Amino acid sequence: MKFFLDTANLQELQTGASWGIVDGVTTNPTLIAKEGQPLEEQIRRICAIVDGDISAEVIATETSAMVEEGRRLARIHKNIVVKCPLTRDGIRTTAALSKEGIRVNVTLCFTPGQALLAAKAGAYFISPFVGRLDDVGYTGMDLIRSITKIYQNYEFPTQVLAASLRSPTHVIDAALAGAHIGTMPFKVMDMLFNHPLTDKGLQQFLADYDKVFREAPVAG
Ligand code: E4P
Repeated sequence: MKFFLDTANLQELQTGASWGIVDGVTTNPTLIAKEGQPLEEQIRRICAIVDGDISAEVIATETSAMVEEGRRLARIHKNIVVKCPLTRDGIRTTAALSKEGIRVNVTLCFTPGQALLAAKAGAYFISPFVGRLDDVGYTGMDLIRSITKIYQNYEFPTQVLAASLRSPTHVIDAALAGAHIGTMPFKVMDMLFNHPLTDKGLQQFLADYDKVFREAPVAG
């Protein structure tokens, strides 16, 4: 499973990259706006930090403008994956850009039917939103399970990028469901490290070592 960071914050990306486990980055207009920097400039900075797939979302909503914007974003760096919303214009744009060899991440997917549309259009990634479905009373993870099964049935090459993951449990369940990628906020990736028995065990190992090799009087 690949791990992507779902953030446009450079500090978080630098820390994540330093761990050596970040395979890519997803951004959306909300995350870019949070950083207060123009989209293309911020994406360029992100590409300099993380060497992996970087999703940059179009702001336009009509096909010809989306295609133009997608082409412009793709020119920023070889690692850019253009993100398009799952609308009729977005799917048209996905089909057009994919035919040109530009990789597309289709976002805001909430049903298996929508995921089929994205695969048919040649999407490189499909982004089903787990947490946002949970928010409205559904079991978001069922969507990941359905999409991975459908894509396997037909050997669609589109990769399932589990998005809107809000907890370590979401990440683990997405992995169990066979998602190719999980994108998560920095906070969630950081939480994956934590277990009290890890901390307690390390403390004990070091204390035991110190008792023999640091505290004991040196012989001779
Ligand atoms: C990623 O591509 C999505 O934009 C993101 O995961 C959405 O997460 P949220 O529902 O927590 O905002």
